[in-house]
Amino acid sequence: MEIKKVGVLGCGLMGSGIAQVAAAAGNDVIVLEQEQKFLDKGFAGIENSLGRMTMSQSARSCITADQKTATQARLKGTTNMQDLADCDIVIEAIIENVPEKRKTYMQLDAIVKKDAIFATNTSSICVAELMGATQRPERFIGLHFFNPVPMMKLVEVVRTIATGDEVFETAVAFGTKLGKVPVRTVDKPGFIVNRLLVPYLLDAIRAYEEGVGSIADIDESMKLGCGYPMGPFTLLDFVGLDTTYYITHVMYDEFKERRFAAPPLLKRLVLAGWYGRKTGKGFYDYTDPKNPVPGKFV
Ligand code: 3HC
Repeated sequence: MEIKKVGVLGCGLMGSGIAQVAAAAGNDVIVLEQEQKFLDKGFAGIENSLGRMTMSQSARSCITADQKTATQARLKGTTNMQDLADCDIVIEAIIENVPEKRKTYMQLDAIVKKDAIFATNTSSICVAELMGATQRPERFIGLHFFNPVPMMKLVEVVRTIATGDEVFETAVAFGTKLGKVPVRTVDKPGFIVNRLLVPYLLDAIRAYEEGVGSIADIDESMKLGCGYPMGPFTLLDFVGLDTTYYITHVMYDEFKERRFAAPPLLKRLVLAGWYGRKTGKGFYDYTDPKNPVPGKFV
């Protein structure tokens, strides 16, 4: 099965990035949002990202002005789910909320052609729980991208107990067509990356709570000591503390192991509405985005 027309549900940080890379790879892309203002915001983010890439000197991300124009010409937005009816694949990147996702999939299942593949970008929800809301379990997969999608080469291709072999291999080939490196995994909490990354991030918070070091020094240590591009607290603010908090609950519910339990400090920052970069404050204060100031919580 060849994928030519791609539907994307959600035009937030991940959805807009997915739409961007799908269009850049030559697919016709239609992005569905609930309101035009969310499409406008997401498309502005794509404009910004493509603009950075036309200015880039690094081979990793540079594109020409013509490529930018061609990518944008293949991108359309809509608030009408009917416009996704003839998509070959629909990639969902809406709020990490099971009832909301299931309701959306039930609606989509009745509209989109029967042989289309459904792919969720969820980072932690059990893919089978979403698949169960459709009549196409064998055509349902996880396709987990990483933030920022235009820059991160990895995509995790997740099969459930029902995914068909041909569908799974079509999804792997699609990941390659997007210029990503697909890895194969199964429908277990956190898949591969978050299964290893989340305990590391939570341990960084616990180490800070225990006075092992300051937020800035722990970040610096992992950057200079392990060559990470971002320290754990910078990455937590980048991914979003609300997203991380949600993921920890899903993983703890499944494994019941302390390493997946949300540390008290993470809970309190989330309850305070300090989600990281997206709210201007998390473990760092982004009042001056170019000069984030680390918080002092203990
Ligand atoms: N669009 C286009 N270009 C971008 C970009 C974007 N969104 N973000 C960065 N770039 C470009 C910059 O323009 C710059 O280009 P240049 O080399 O020509 O100057 C280049 O990438 C480097 O960017 P920066 O100079 O801003 O800084 P870095 O060198 O640190 O790169 C980064 C930024 C790529 C985000 C890097 O810091 C990084 O890889 N961080 C780790 C991100 C990560 O771990 N993501 C995974 C999180 S886990 C996840 O997403 C899973 C979910 O389920 C929770």
